Amino acid sequence: MQALIVVALAAIFQYAQAQVAAYGQCGGSGYSGSTSCTSGYACTSQNAYYYQCVPGSATSTTTSKATSSSTTTTTTTSKSTTLTTTTTSKSTAQSTSQTSTSTGSTCTGTFSAISASNFVAKLHPGWNLGNTLDAIPNEGSWNNAAVVASTFATVQDAGFNGVRIPVTYAYHFTGSSPDWTVDPAWLQRVSDVVDMSTSLGLYTIVNVHHDSWIWADVTASGANLTMIEEKFYRLWYQIGTKLACKSSLVAFESINEPPCTDSTHGAEINKLNKIFLQAINDAGGFQFPACGQPLVCGAIWLFKSLRYPVPLLQSLGKTIWGSDADKATVSSDFQLLRNNFTDVPIILGEYDASPTNTEPAGRWKYVDEVVLSALGLNFACILWDNGLDHLNRDTATWRDPNSISMITKSTASTSNSLPDSTEDASATTQSSSAYIFHEYGTEVTQQSLPFVFNGNTLSSITDSAGSTLTSGTDYSVSGSNIIFTASYLSKHITSTTSPGIIANLTLKFSGGDSSPVVQLVQWKTPTLSSKTAVASSVSGSDLSIPITWGGLPRIAAVKALTTSGTYLVDDWTVYLGPLQQARTTYSSQYNWDSSNVILTSSAISSVISAGVTTVFTFEFFPRDNGVVNAVNFTLTV
Ligand SMILES: *[C@@H]1O[C@H](CO)[C@@H](O)[C@H](O)[C@H]1NC(C)=O
Ligand SMILES: *[C@@H]1O[C@H](CO)[C@@H](O)[C@H](O)[C@H]1NC(C)=O
Ligand SMILES: *[C@@H]1O[C@H](CO)[C@@H](O)[C@H](O)[C@H]1NC(C)=O
Ligand SMILES: *[C@@H]1O[C@H](CO)[C@@H](O)[C@H](O)[C@H]1NC(C)=O
Repeated sequence: MQALIVVALAAIFQYAQAQVAAYGQCGGSGYSGSTSCTSGYACTSQNAYYYQCVPGSATSTTTSKATSSSTTTTTTTSKSTTLTTTTTSKSTAQSTSQTSTSTGSTCTGTFSAISASNFVAKLHPGWNLGNTLDAIPNEGSWNNAAVVASTFATVQDAGFNGVRIPVTYAYHFTGSSPDWTVDPAWLQRVSDVVDMSTSLGLYTIVNVHHDSWIWADVTASGANLTMIEEKFYRLWYQIGTKLACKSSLVAFESINEPPCTDSTHGAEINKLNKIFLQAINDAGGFQFPACGQPLVCGAIWLFKSLRYPVPLLQSLGKTIWGSDADKATVSSDFQLLRNNFTDVPIILGEYDASPTNTEPAGRWKYVDEVVLSALGLNFACILWDNGLDHLNRDTATWRDPNSISMITKSTASTSNSLPDSTEDASATTQSSSAYIFHEYGTEVTQQSLPFVFNGNTLSSITDSAGSTLTSGTDYSVSGSNIIFTASYLSKHITSTTSPGIIANLTLKFSGGDSSPVVQLVQWKTPTLSSKTAVASSVSGSDLSIPITWGGLPRIAAVKALTTSGTYLVDDWTVYLGPLQQARTTYSSQYNWDSSNVILTSSAISSVISAGVTTVFTFEFFPRDNGVVNAVNFTLTV
């Protein structure tokens, strides 16, 4: 499953006892809150677990006890953006006066009470066990083997304090209505994986993940909401029962990224959140006053339009990130969220710029902006990692140690030094100081790389063999530029050195947590083993075209222009900058491996349905808008 760059935002809030707001819960099994609805709404039975304030007049007069805390229930339409708020289940640390309504497990042992804000503060920095227990239909079905305990140790060693464990239950039900029994072996597996995490002292969030768009999609046409509510209650009751006696290191998140396009859906999702809380409470466990109880996180869609603060780098040719506008999109969205929840602990549940398919200078600027902006507003951040992105679980190595260092070490006041790069979306070429690019066949001359020093000074540069470069002889710093001398570069390359990554230079600075690796790359235009194919004869599967790479062994972008001059896909990209116009999207339309560039079957289908011969221009780094560092491949009809 290709990782989208996804942001899930989670927050934690405390319930206020109040007159129940529109669409709020006002009764049901185990419910002990107010049964009085806000003006114009009546408390109406939805099912045994849930009475809700719906428009209408109350049949009996009730006395309002408190002012209401309004809950916004409008929604966002972005599939990739999740805004969840979380709540502590009703007792948490201050649980001494709780009236127990639970019917489930009774735990022995001890429980260290913890407040929501304390949990969230300790969770940071967090890491997602992506594409694993959430895989469909089963763990192991996607790109990751069954997770092993040592993976959690690797994550902790890197400096992470928390883990989010997404879990999909959709294909693990063994019973139907009304019990919706979940396979006990699956619940045991979830419990075992939670133990792998908590046994190391990692703060751990467990959720209900892709169920959100399988059986629990409240937006689906003909969705049986009664069934969804019943099943959701039963699911969380069983999860709650299974995990009831774990420690205060465990928290629950109601549901991941529930589809939602209008306020009716928002109200229904709020309802599911309350059902979830009820189910967790009913399941018992560490929720008696003597023991306190685990934290519970719920999901409520709050913002009408939380804009997507992420560079879908490599999507639609976007390989540039870091302009003031890009950064403001992140920081202002975070600020709006914080303004809406001034005293609520907030978790950024997923964010990611994958090292496998993003340009490093833009990626590091993004990581720096997201993490520092989030920390400045006291958000906890949980990195998304689908197994192909950051941690190579087989070798226990991180693919981009610099991102991990900034994520795990930076605080809100950190100033990181970063390679500079093109930030202007209207540019026709792209520079990046994450690379020293030298073109094959040209003279080796000194190269000057602009850096954003951010108040630090350069301390050292070390090559892959561990040798330290000599300041003054091998390089010098002038203003905001690091200049590599011709004599140093000539030790590695001549004009005819074979193209490829020649050296990796690690830079260290006097402050901050960024130690970027700058790669010396000898490049020339790659060559393809064939330049054309007939679309109809290669349709039905992906087309691999052997390539002789000419530097970095990866694609930067792919343009798809029909011979009639139209864009094959996404013709609206005409409104984007020159390096994005007519560009296609990684994974949807193209991919690559160590020796091929790949056009997907979907791209081939698009040509067949357009009925027009199409030229695919494969572009490489350094990007020059297809002038030199690009090759064409034509699919004819
Ligand atoms: C909806 O689900 C409920 C609970 O499972 C069930 O009793 C009812 O028959 C379902 N309604 C329809 C129309 O299928
Ligand atoms: C709360 O969020 C909404 C939606 O993004 C935004 O319009 C509003 O300005 C925010 N409220 C505050 C006080 O910032
Ligand atoms: C440089 O790092 C890359 C990984 O990014 C690695 O594949 C390559 O072998 C390294 N090259 C040298 C010369 O160390
Ligand atoms: C690719 O083909 C287009 C015409 O479709 C042409 O303008 C462009 O120069 C070609 N690029 C390369 C790198 O051959």
